[in-house]
Amino acid sequence: MDRNLKDKIAGVLISAEQIDEATTKLANKINEEYKDKNLVLVGLLKGSILFMADLMKKITVQCRIDFMCVSSYGNDTKSSGRVNILKDLSDPIDGDDVIIVEDIVDSGHTLDFITNYFKAKNANSVKLVTLLDKPARRECDIKVDYACFEIEDEFVVGYGLDYCQYLRNIPYVGYVDKSTTMD
Ligand code: IMP
Ligand code: MG
Repeated sequence: MDRNLKDKIAGVLISAEQIDEATTKLANKINEEYKDKNLVLVGLLKGSILFMADLMKKITVQCRIDFMCVSSYGNDTKSSGRVNILKDLSDPIDGDDVIIVEDIVDSGHTLDFITNYFKAKNANSVKLVTLLDKPARRECDIKVDYACFEIEDEFVVGYGLDYCQYLRNIPYVGYVDKSTTMD
């Protein structure tokens, strides 16, 4: 593996400061809306890890957290349309008010699957919040309840998002040069 993958980042798309502001704004909204609910934040691994951690620190209403890991991608940057559960929820969510915490909504296949899966598990309500939304790439008719940032159709990394499983630990969202291949 290339030892200098960070060099693939062509520039900063969203800074750590912008992310911090956006997570505060979203947490405030959740704190208002979920005062008397049975809130469960469900982070989708691995991409949502930093967003989930920063967001939950700012949430003051009583809540639980859980994680799911699903795969919708192969080894390239194209969505396969198939979703496999790699790690399921640890606890039941029936009667709970679930907020799905996602890093990025792209084709929407992942969220289409997860939203229906949670409804089938009798969640009282299911909402979706995402750090990033790429509406231009949508293939499924899903409702994004809150997106911190809408972005163009470009490949982004950092703040949880990966490039071949690397670069998740970069503290900002960077964009990869379009001419870069997934080598
Ligand atoms: P969807 O099912 O096509 O909406 O795919 C969503 C998942 O694809 C996200 O949770 C990410 O893991 C991954 N993904 C989509 N776009 C990007 C990107 O630009 N960079 C890194 N990962 C991405
Ligand atoms: Mg993801």
